[in-house]
Amino acid sequence: MTDLEQLKQELKKVNAEYAGIRDVPVKKRAEFGRKINAKKQEILAKIAVIEQAALDTEVEPIDITAPTVANEPLPEVYPQDQGSTHPLMTELDRVTEIYQMMGFDVVEARQLDDEYHMFDSLNFTKEHPARDGYDTFRTEEGLIPPAHTSTMQHRVLKAYKDRLAKGENIAVVVPGRVYRNEDVDATHEHTFYQCEGVYVSRDCTMGQMLGILREFFEKYYEQKLNIRTQPGYFPFTEPSLEFMIEKPKSLGGKKGDFLEMLGCGMIHPNVLKIAGIDPEEYHGFAWGGGIDRLVMLRYGLKDVRYFESGNLNFLREF
Ligand code: DAH
Repeated sequence: MTDLEQLKQELKKVNAEYAGIRDVPVKKRAEFGRKINAKKQEILAKIAVIEQAALDTEVEPIDITAPTVANEPLPEVYPQDQGSTHPLMTELDRVTEIYQMMGFDVVEARQLDDEYHMFDSLNFTKEHPARDGYDTFRTEEGLIPPAHTSTMQHRVLKAYKDRLAKGENIAVVVPGRVYRNEDVDATHEHTFYQCEGVYVSRDCTMGQMLGILREFFEKYYEQKLNIRTQPGYFPFTEPSLEFMIEKPKSLGGKKGDFLEMLGCGMIHPNVLKIAGIDPEEYHGFAWGGGIDRLVMLRYGLKDVRYFESGNLNFLREF
């Protein structure tokens, strides 16, 4: 007989003994019950230990890093390697590293946001027609998967504004995943990545902003670049600009081939005010642009849809 079987028999005996409590004189019943119960608990504890030990040896530990059903050999058709970092993530790391070298903090964006951060805090009045321009998805509860990383501007301004009082500046970049409800083609995806930049100080200028952006793009593409701006419109900046770079020869560009890389401008006084920063005292600039586009140019990719496709042949090229 195994230990477990023996214990189970003992348990039966104890239970039977307990049934005899009716024959015990009333005065002694409490004492009798206590004793039997103590014995019973002791046996149950021993049983539990043995059963748990059996479970521990029966169940093979699960390898949570296994690429498919744990503990089954991979079918031949699957790649035998363990995968790699997605090219967008590798490039996003490069992007934030460059900004960090330039003194920026990095704050991660959210993947579910609300009307207030998507629009209201960014100086979109309730009836503002530009609200429609963002092709936002909405959940049934009315939340918004962010259509741009600018949803983080208000949070960054509020979280960092104490620095201004100490005489420091706000310098933060916010990488994030964004979503737009639009038709997908070679240059449009419903899901893509952006990086936002926010800078506030007493006396910053548009010239500084253009200097920072030029520096960033020259570091990213590892060469000198020609830049150009043209007027743009965003409710949260005044004035607003579109920032372009001339597509370098080394990346297949011809002279005069300018590509729009991001939107930018001086932060609108209302955006500062809503975040509790006095626009009479402080000024800021901000920018936001797509990461996918940046990476496509670097690697000569013609179709943005590769990034979200899960196509292994594509991913293996990186
Ligand atoms: N959020 C804008 C977009 O996705 C881009 C942008 C424009 C961001 C101007 C900014 C900015 O921070 O100042 O279209």
